Amino acid sequence: MYKLIDGKQVASLIKSEIASEVLRRKSEGRKIPHLAAILVGNDGGSETYVAHKVKACEEVGFESTLIRLPESVTAGELLSTVKSLNINDSVDGFIVQLPLPAHIDEEMVTNEISPDKDVDGFHPVNLGRMMLGMPSFVSATPYGIVELLRRYGIDTAGRRCVIIGRSNIVGRPLSILLSQKGIDATVTVVHSRSEGLEKIAAEADILVAAIGKPGFVKADMVKEGAVVIDVGTTRVSSESTKSGWKLAGDVDFDSVAPKCSFITPVPGGVGPMTIVSLLRNTLLACSRK
Ligand code: GUN
Repeated sequence: MYKLIDGKQVASLIKSEIASEVLRRKSEGRKIPHLAAILVGNDGGSETYVAHKVKACEEVGFESTLIRLPESVTAGELLSTVKSLNINDSVDGFIVQLPLPAHIDEEMVTNEISPDKDVDGFHPVNLGRMMLGMPSFVSATPYGIVELLRRYGIDTAGRRCVIIGRSNIVGRPLSILLSQKGIDATVTVVHSRSEGLEKIAAEADILVAAIGKPGFVKADMVKEGAVVIDVGTTRVSSESTKSGWKLAGDVDFDSVAPKCSFITPVPGGVGPMTIVSLLRNTLLACSRK
């Protein structure tokens, strides 16, 4: 029988650990961590994600600031806002919620964020530092996955880990993290051009699906007893929800779960962990000062 990896429960445990640390800082008269978020336009998904981030700050006792800019904002105006947060001493870390409107170059904006305040861990300096095994802000999803494995006592050393997907925010940084000394997994990254993807996936002790294709991973791609981590969060239409949509993972849960030792559900698996990573990075940014 498989065990469900409960990301919601682990996230709530980590939030209470962070809240205790905030109380301790308060009692010692030290600075309270402060996270700022820039939200451009009115994208439904982004509104929801940012609202969750602000709520999470309140839950752990952080200060938070939400800066809303209109869809029509110019790249120059957005860059000025980023620069003002870079030099604002009260703000320890901030994020620019993605995606940005098509007329703004996301890479240019990300590169303008001070690496010391880049709590999303998207800046090339932070990705480079992580690659070299130096202290860095690790981005949310890779951190969340490694923390889930650790807290469930899932051994990674010497084990075969296959990651489906090579995105800059999940697959590729996760591959570096999992192969680091101390985690010690044997990592393979497969992607849309990989030959024999199914066969390679079926050799994994730990299989991570991060391609954004609902139900892509089927039972015949999974080894008996494998640990399966589902990063997919695609909105698909649904008649059973009030909103008319639900989140679908990259794993065909019903057929795959019976073969697994551990598996993450969607929702409630990796998703809730990504916000605690942001909180953890903000606490780190604050305590580094
Ligand atoms: N859009 C979707 N996920 C993220 C994230 O983790 N950070 C930011 N800034 N934007 C996102």
